[in-house]
Amino acid sequence: MSTYRRLSEKLEVDDIDFDTFRDQPLSPDALRCLRYMHDVENHTVCYLRDVLVTRAHRDPEVTSFLTLWNYEEFWHGEAIAGILEAHDEVAGNGRVAALRQRLSRVDAWKPLSFQVASAITPHLTAVHMTWGAVNEWTTQAAYARLANLAGHPTLSELLRRIMKQEGRHIDFYASQARTRLADSRGAQRITRWALRRFWAPVGTGVVPEREVEFLRTFLFGDDDGRAMADRIDRRVDRLPGLGGLNLLREAVTAA
Ligand SMILES: [Fe+2]
Ligand SMILES: [Fe+2]
Repeated sequence: MSTYRRLSEKLEVDDIDFDTFRDQPLSPDALRCLRYMHDVENHTVCYLRDVLVTRAHRDPEVTSFLTLWNYEEFWHGEAIAGILEAHDEVAGNGRVAALRQRLSRVDAWKPLSFQVASAITPHLTAVHMTWGAVNEWTTQAAYARLANLAGHPTLSELLRRIMKQEGRHIDFYASQARTRLADSRGAQRITRWALRRFWAPVGTGVVPEREVEFLRTFLFGDDDGRAMADRIDRRVDRLPGLGGLNLLREAVTAA
């Protein structure tokens, strides 16, 4: 954690020339991915709200990480907003406010359900840490795929910087997950059950289902995408007690 604390920073974008998107705009498909990613990055603070009502808030190592993680994800959202705005699209607060308004009814019950889950099981933090690892692996893979498919130098540079930070998020979540799962068979059982029962690609429930469908077909529907999904499954396999879940394989095949 001390390394992460030292390395955590606001995403550097001052030297990125967003006007290059005006001369060399992205394809409609790439923009569609970026709208999704914009909304998911900006939803981080809502997810943080849900995690903080659970027993996770008792662990200062976890809350220190979450504080800095939330800050970094905020700037990822802002950077992507900059790309959308360079294509004359509404992004940032205007888009986020509309999204939260749309989600308000379902979202209102989230903190309560997380609180109840936290009262039922002592292992909810293990579930959160594992969930976080899977989502960060998936997010990083999605950015790598998008950079490849779009082939736009400015976008690639921006995504490279974002992916570097996602890599550090992965390190924290995965090491927390590994330790907590290794410590307890109960944690393994409940995490395995929760992932199997509730896990869906990050963004599900936040963006419309057709957008989730589009993203997994566009980014993970070809051979390279499937190979990447398999690699994430192998990483999940290596976590204690989580072998053979094939979460990504099933998500990609569903597409
Ligand atoms: Fe991010
Ligand atoms: Fe992240």
